[in-house]
Amino acid sequence: MGTKIYDCISRIAERIIENKDYLTDLDREIGDADHGVNMARGFQAVLEKVPRDSDDVGAVLKKTGMTLLSTVGGASGPLYGTAFMEAGKVAAGKEALTTGDVPAIMNAVIEGIQKRGKAVRGEKTMLDALIPALEAYTEQLEAGSDLSGAMDAACAAARDGVEFTKTIRATKGRASYLGDRSIGHQDPGATSATLIMEAVRDFLRG
Ligand SMILES: Nc1ncnc2c1ncn2[C@@H]1O[C@H](COP(=O)(O)OP(=O)(O)OP(=O)(O)O)[C@@H](O)[C@H]1O
Ligand SMILES: [Mg+2]
Repeated sequence: MGTKIYDCISRIAERIIENKDYLTDLDREIGDADHGVNMARGFQAVLEKVPRDSDDVGAVLKKTGMTLLSTVGGASGPLYGTAFMEAGKVAAGKEALTTGDVPAIMNAVIEGIQKRGKAVRGEKTMLDALIPALEAYTEQLEAGSDLSGAMDAACAAARDGVEFTKTIRATKGRASYLGDRSIGHQDPGATSATLIMEAVRDFLRG
C-alpha cells in the first residue's frame, strides 16, 4: 500500500460525488433528502483542501476528517469527520499502510463513530455496514487471505449489511422518527459507508 494517500481519498470523493443523487434519494425515503448533497459537498471540499503530494497518511486522513466535520453537516458530518480523524490517529507518522493496519483503522473508525453517535449494531446506521465488514476482513486475514481477498470479503459483508438495514427499524437519527415505517428502506449512511469501502478496494486493486 505504498501508493499516494491523496489518490485513495480522491477515489472515495469521486465515488461519493457520483452517487450524490442516489444517496439523497435513499434519504428522501426515511430522512430529509440531504445525505447525498451533504456528503458530496463535503468530499468536494476535501478534493480542494487536502494536499495532493503528501506522503503523510495520518496527516491527510486527519485533514480529510476536519474538512468533513466543517462541511458535511447533519448527523453524518460529525460522524464521518470523527471516523477519518480517528483513522488518521492510527496512521500517524506512516507513509504507507500494511494489510495489518486496515483492521486497526477500521476498529478506530467504528469506535469513534460509536463514541460520538452512541449507536450500536442493529440500529439501522452506518455501523451495520462497518462492523460486519471489519469482522469479515479479520476472518479472511486469519484464514490466510491477502489484502485483496480480505477487502473483497469486507465489501461483500458491508453490502449484506446494507441489505440487512432494510429489514430493521431505525432507532437513531432522523429515520427513528418514522418508527416501524422505516422498515423496508435501506439506510443511506450504511450505503455511503459501503461506497467508501468499495472505493478503497478498487483503489488498492489499481
Ligand atoms: N447516532 C448515529 N450513529 C451512527 N450513524 C448515524 C447516527 N445517526 C444517524 N446516522 C447515520 O447518518 C445517516 C444520515 O445522515 P444525514 O447526512 O442525512 O444526516 P441527517 O440525519 O439528515 O442529519 P440532521 O438530522 O442533523 O439533518 C443515517 O443514514 C445513519 O446511517
Ligand atoms: Mg438527512
